[in-house]
Amino acid sequence: MQVVHSIAQLRTALDGRGRPAFVPTMGNLHAGHIALVRQAKPLGDVQVSSIFVNRLQFLPNEDFDSYPRTLQDDCAKLEAEGCDIVFAPKESELYPQPQTFKIQPDPALADILEGQFRPGFFTGVCTVVMKLFSAVFASTGGGVAVFGKKDYQQRLVIERMVQQFALPIEIVGAEIARAEGGLALSSRNSYLSSAELEQAQALSGALQSLTQVARQGEQPLEVLEAQTRQALNALGWQTDYLTVRLRDSLQSPNAEELASAPLVALGAARLGNTRLIDNLEF
Ligand code: PAF
Repeated sequence: MQVVHSIAQLRTALDGRGRPAFVPTMGNLHAGHIALVRQAKPLGDVQVSSIFVNRLQFLPNEDFDSYPRTLQDDCAKLEAEGCDIVFAPKESELYPQPQTFKIQPDPALADILEGQFRPGFFTGVCTVVMKLFSAVFASTGGGVAVFGKKDYQQRLVIERMVQQFALPIEIVGAEIARAEGGLALSSRNSYLSSAELEQAQALSGALQSLTQVARQGEQPLEVLEAQTRQALNALGWQTDYLTVRLRDSLQSPNAEELASAPLVALGAARLGNTRLIDNLEF
C-alpha cells in the first residue's frame, strides 16, 4: 500500500492502474469505514482511500480542532483491507490558497435537515469532494466512489452534483454498519461515555418506532414526528430533527406518498456534547 500526500504523487501512483474505486474519509476509521473499503475494492482496479479532515464543512463552534487524527492507525487498518493507495493531503496541499471558488448545491436539497442545522455544511462537503474527485479521477477518466448511507443526505447531494456536472463517476451507497443494539457506527461515537453509548441506542430505536407507525396514517405525520421527538428528548436528548421524507427528494410525503412511496426516516440529535445522525429506509 502506498501512502501519498500530494495530488501529483497520487496521479503518478494511479498511472496505468486502471479504474479507481474511491472511498473518501476524514479518518479515525471504524468498522463502518472498513465496510465501505470492502464494498469498494471489487468495484475497481485500484482501491484508493483518502483521509482529510475538511475545515470547510465545520461550523466555527464545531469539533474541527478536536476531531481525532489517527493517520498511523488508519493506514494500518486500510492496509489490512487491501487498500492500494491512501491519499492523505495536508491542508496546504488541498487548500494552497483560501478556497474562494465553491460548489453551491441546490438549496432545496442542501438547506434542509443537516443543512438547516449546519449552514454551509454541504457547500464545504461538495467543494472538498469535487476537489478529491479531481485529484483521484481527472487522470483516470472516471471510476466509482462509495459513500455510506449513514450520511443519507450527503450521498444524495453528491449524487446530484455528479449528475449535474456530468462527472464520469459512479456513486455507490453503502448500507449503514450498526453496533449490537442498533447504534449506527460513527467516528463521533468515540466522544460518548460508556453510559452515553448505552443511551445512544435510543436514536435508532426512535427511528424504528417512527417507521412502524408512519404508513398507518392513523395520525398526521407531523403529530407522530413531534411525539417521537418528545419521547427522545425525555430520554435526555436534544433533538434537531426526527422526520419522515421521500427518499429521492427529502421532501415531506403527501398522504398518497406516505402510503406507498419509498421513504426514509432521518434523525439528528445531541446527547451531551455529541451530535449524532441516523436514518432508516422503509
Ligand atoms: O463523510 C465524510 O467523512 C466527509 O463528509 C467526506 C465525504 C469525506 C468529505 O469530507
